[in-house]
Amino acid sequence: NRKKNEKLEMYFKMHVDAARFFFRNLKDYKEIRDYFYKRGITDQTIRSFGLGFALNSWDSLLKYLKSMNYKEDDIVRCGLATKNEKGKVYDRFRNRIIFPVFDVRGRVIAFGARVMDDSKPKYLNSPETPIYNKGTHLYGLNFARKNSKEKSLIIVEGYMDCISLNQAGVKNVVASLGTALTKMQARLLKRNSEEVYISYDADNAGQAATVRGLDILSAEGIDVKVVQIPKGKDPDDYIRAEGVEKFHELLSHALPLIDYKILKAKDGLNIGEDQGRIHYAKRVVSILNNLDPIEKDVYVQKVSEDTGISESALMSLMKGDEEAVRIMDT
Ligand code: CTP
Ligand code: MN
Ligand code: MN
Ligand code: MN
Ligand code: MN
Repeated sequence: NRKKNEKLEMYFKMHVDAARFFFRNLKDYKEIRDYFYKRGITDQTIRSFGLGFALNSWDSLLKYLKSMNYKEDDIVRCGLATKNEKGKVYDRFRNRIIFPVFDVRGRVIAFGARVMDDSKPKYLNSPETPIYNKGTHLYGLNFARKNSKEKSLIIVEGYMDCISLNQAGVKNVVASLGTALTKMQARLLKRNSEEVYISYDADNAGQAATVRGLDILSAEGIDVKVVQIPKGKDPDDYIRAEGVEKFHELLSHALPLIDYKILKAKDGLNIGEDQGRIHYAKRVVSILNNLDPIEKDVYVQKVSEDTGISESALMSLMKGDEEAVRIMDT
């Protein structure tokens, strides 16, 4: 057991050494620093988040870590190098921007690596390793805990969303790193906040992840609201284009869970037509069915105003009144 702990400590240290190596590479490559500057990232932010660059080489990190007496097997075990079928070992991250991933104590436990052009895959990440289990961490939580006194946390998808918001002064941010939110991450959010804002990308992937994330968060009893970013953008795009004041405005207009679900119930329906309205009413009723009577009352009123369907019809539909269903169907 003590042996095992020593091994893990060595893995943590290997990650810091790798992060330092990637960071130092920036000094020699103005074009890489320019990539960050073009995206609005300052030197100060590069330092705070430990950003770096993996050289366009098959073995620069490997050589460096070996020169520090790390063993090839351990380097591969940590996912910093890969061994192919022929037994050849080479750097996993090559010619990419580097984002160190920190745990809540601020230790480097993994890396994300982005291409600087449009090639695929856009990001390469560390695999699961003895010190990194992706679904149990939230990127940026160490910074949020240190730098923010807010009771709420904003959850975003990406590295750049988290970093960009931080740079703009919004410090209560964490990123789920594109994965479907896990139960463990939801619990971590609950332990560290009283309220969670989901601020995922306004693209198809992000919206689908929002719906799934909402259910996971609410199942953990988290008070959750949905931030609505204009179509096609993510929080990083938005705050860079519109500024931090506008982002705070978006936060203040974030939709509570039920409101968001009711809004989503309109997707693909034309509320201007009878059939669309009827279909919408049924979807809404199935959303409202689990609520307490007072909430039901409030939302039935809203939906009635929105659709012109009477409150009493909605109420009886909600009681599972077959007659109401039949009447509305015709
Ligand atoms: N992601 C990943 N692997 C991919 C694509 C995405 O791990 N091939 C994760 C990354 O953590 C990324 C997040 O999902 O930050 C969101 O993906 P996306 O919106 O495509 O990227 P952005 O974070 O917006 O990156 P950028 O602004 O640099 O384009
Ligand atoms: Mn704030
Ligand atoms: Mn996206
Ligand atoms: Mn982005
Ligand atoms: Mn994005």
